[in-house]
Amino acid sequence: MTTHVQTATPLLSVRGLSKSFGNVQAVDNVSLDIFPKEVIGLVGDNGAGKSTFLSLLSGYNIKDSGQFFFRGKEVEVTSPRTSRRELGIEMIYQNLSLAPDLTVWENIFLGEELARWRLFMRRRDMIAQAERVLRQLNSKVSANDFVGNLSGGEQQLVAISRALLFERDLIIMDEPTAAISLAKVRDVLDLILSLKQHGKSVIIVSHRLEDILTVADRIVVFARGRIREILENKDLTIESLVRAIFGDLEGGAK
Ligand SMILES: Nc1ncnc2c1ncn2[C@@H]1O[C@H](COP(=O)(O)OP(=O)(O)OP(=O)(O)O)[C@@H](O)[C@H]1O
Ligand SMILES: [Mg+2]
Repeated sequence: MTTHVQTATPLLSVRGLSKSFGNVQAVDNVSLDIFPKEVIGLVGDNGAGKSTFLSLLSGYNIKDSGQFFFRGKEVEVTSPRTSRRELGIEMIYQNLSLAPDLTVWENIFLGEELARWRLFMRRRDMIAQAERVLRQLNSKVSANDFVGNLSGGEQQLVAISRALLFERDLIIMDEPTAAISLAKVRDVLDLILSLKQHGKSVIIVSHRLEDILTVADRIVVFARGRIREILENKDLTIESLVRAIFGDLEGGAK
């Protein structure tokens, strides 16, 4: 138990969250607390329900039942927009949905926020804001670079910059290191750790268990739509984690 974390009020609590697709119970009565400044690693076999769970947090899918509490207060999540507003969540998808023909700063400000910001922010201010956040993340990328010329890892950074700039509290990443070169994986992991330094919480799903062991404070093991186990990331090895994920599942590992 990391008591310094666990005694705080959770940033986000979910209780009894469930979601089915037809007769597949993708998420089955899941309860979890996510604390401020905590990195949660979400692991589990294919089809365990990890992405569906995240989609309920991000408002991409709507829960069948269950409750969300943000800093102790119950909130409803009915769309990606309410997830951002009510839960302060920024979801970073695997295919990042950035616009390759636009610059880094244009991508950072792209989306629903742009309209609101554009009213009182001039181009020069937006570039300056983008540069400030990029420097905060120790990046060599410039706000005026075109996103299409960036590597996968650098594109992650653009998405993360947006989360920082708009002061999201919780950044959710589904397989952020799956599509990038091995040499850049360390950069993305460093970004996650620096988000934590900036007081953010992060949920990361990954099949790369060494990445999870590098960044996570706690590891949540999903199996068949449920939380099977929650592990403190202390004295864990890849082998013990593999056992926790696949160990005594009937039917064995795939
Ligand atoms: N939109 C959908 N329609 C129907 N079934 C779905 C849908 N999304 C997910 N499922 C099903 O829900 C279950 C959980 O899938 P989910 O994608 O959440 O698993 P996962 O843990 O993210 O797996 P992976 O590690 O392969 O990404 C699976 O049986 C999947 O087929
Ligand atoms: Mg998935």
